[in-house]
Order: sequence, then structure tokens, then C-alpha cells
Amino acid sequence: MRKVAVIGAGQMGSGIAQTVAQHGIQIMLSDIDLAVAEKAKDGIEKSLGKLVGRGKIEIADAESALSRITPIGENAPMAEADLIIEAATEQEHIKKAIFEAAGKVLRDDAIMASNTSSIPITRMANFAPDPARFIGLHFFNPVPVMGLIEVIPGLATAQNTTDQITAFAESLGKEVVLSQDEPGFVVNRILLPMINEAIFVLGQSTANIEDIDKGCRLGLNHPMGPLQLADFVGLDTCFEIIKVLYDTTGDSKYRPAPLLVKYVEAGWLGRKTGRGFYDYSGEAPVPTR
Ligand code: CAA
Repeated sequence: MRKVAVIGAGQMGSGIAQTVAQHGIQIMLSDIDLAVAEKAKDGIEKSLGKLVGRGKIEIADAESALSRITPIGENAPMAEADLIIEAATEQEHIKKAIFEAAGKVLRDDAIMASNTSSIPITRMANFAPDPARFIGLHFFNPVPVMGLIEVIPGLATAQNTTDQITAFAESLGKEVVLSQDEPGFVVNRILLPMINEAIFVLGQSTANIEDIDKGCRLGLNHPMGPLQLADFVGLDTCFEIIKVLYDTTGDSKYRPAPLLVKYVEAGWLGRKTGRGFYDYSGEAPVPTR
């Protein structure tokens, strides 16, 4: 891949753009308007600056990575992309509109991928110009740090598409897990029931936020407890994923915890809104219950 376009300049899209640019590939970063994409590039500059400050990368490498990122506010330039990665919000109607619009400029030899956390690839492939060149490419947050990418071919995905995307993922220095197109793929199928259960445990007052997270950090050696991780992922995203698991399987073990639903309804979505299970307004996160 020489040129990649990323659609959606939020937490995931920015992380993907940074990682791809750090691996010598030209990136077009797009969002609903140019200003949003430009702001995301400023965020990537800060993130690269931190890595320079900590002696992780050379300043020249940070500068050249940044120079490879071009914010865009329209689809036309994506005609040059070998790969378009959709990393928009986890709502199918939004993704559908993106695939249809970007599909109009997708070259005949280019691939379209979705960073969806859980929406079926086979179903979304119908919104793309060619289901054989459509695939799931699932990154983990924070993208520059996490060593895994899930590759999810849909029913109609061509083997050549899977091979090219696997090689691309590996060229970013990541390990690949190949998953069938089943709800939640591999990792979120396991992670989200754990996060959801932690919210049930909190809702039933079995323990407070601090102790639930401490229990998993110290008892399971997880870097973050499940409630802190839920805030990190975004409670809206957690809700959307567990809802997909519930709706597609009909299995009651995936029913969203009522407290998760309430937090989403309150707009307490985690780190990105300044409040979730923790309050992020001060220097260190403070548990809210
Ligand atoms: N860019 C580049 N490097 C970063 C970074 C970023 N955005 N954020 C952190 N780092 C690096 C730091 O430079 C540091 O590197 P060194 O160890 O080499 O010094 C390292 O990551 C650790 O960072 P910190 O010391 O600042 O913080 P930490 O030790 O508390 O770790 C963490 C932070 C890496 C996020 C860690 O808490 C962690 O791994 N948490 C779990 C993350 C996780 O589970 N992610 C998956 C979520 S699920 C998902 O994404 C899928 C989905 O569909 C929902």
C-alpha cells in the first residue's frame, strides 16, 4: 500500500493515521469537515511530540510521519487511495452512508475496509461497490501501542483481499488474528461480556468502582480494570457492541447492563466527555460511585 485514506478522525481514526504514517505510508485523514480532520492532525502532532519527549522516536521521524498526513474534507482525493479504512462511529447507518459515498471514488483495484468493532462484515459489504474487495480490519486502542489487528473477511471477500490486508497489517508491526465474521469477532466477543458484567456488579452494589477495577488489575494482572477500560473505549461504543452481540445472537447473556444504558442516556460516555465511571476533570481520574 502506498496511499491509505482513513475516514473518521476520532480516537481510532487518529491512532490508525498516526501508525500508518509512522510506517512510511501516505495518509489522507478525512472527517465530516476539514476543520475536524485538521484538529485531529494537531492531536497526532502532540502524540508524536510526546514520543519524541520520552526518547521513543527521533524528532526527524516524527516530522516525516506528520508530513505524510493530509487532512481532507471531501471524498474526491480518495480516488488515489489503495486502501480506504472507515473508522467512524459504531452506527451502521453512518457507516452505510460513508461506504456508499466513498465507494463512488474507490478505484477498481483498491480495497475498502471497516474498523467496526462488531457490525457484521458480510452485511456491510453490500454497501460497498464490490463485496470481494471489502473486509474488516479491526485495530485496538491506543493503536500505536497495541500489538494486535483482527482481520475479518466477509462471506464474499476475495482471498486476494484477505492476503493483501493481512500483509498490510503485518507491515505496521502488528500481529494478526484472523476471525470469521461472527458477532464481536474474537476479542470483543470476550471483552464486552466482561465489561458488561463489571457494570452489573457495580449496579448491584457488590463493590464500588475502585474495588472492581482494583480486583481485575491485581487479581487478573490486567493493565486497566474493566470500568476504567470501558471509559477508555467509550461507553457509547461499549453499548453499541454489546447490543450487536445481543441483537444478532438473541442470547440473554449479552443483555446490556441497565446502568450502562443509563450512563449512555446521561451522555456520560467516559474519557471523551470528561465523565463516565470516573470523573476526568482533575489531574487524576476520580471514581464517581
Ligand atoms: N501513542 C503512542 N504511545 C503511547 C500512547 C499513544 N497514544 N499511549 C501510551 N503510549 C505508550 C507510552 O509511550 C508507554 O511506552 P513505554 O512503555 O515504551 O514507555 C506505554 O504506552 C505505556 O504508557 P503510559 O506509561 O503512559 O501509561 P500506562 O502504562 O498506564 O499504559 C495503556 C497505558 C497502554 C493504555 C495501558 O493502560 C493499557 O494497555 N490499557 C489497556 C488497553 C486496552 O485494553 N485496549 C484495548 C481496548 S478494546 C479495543 O480497542 C477494541 C474495541 O473495539 C473496543
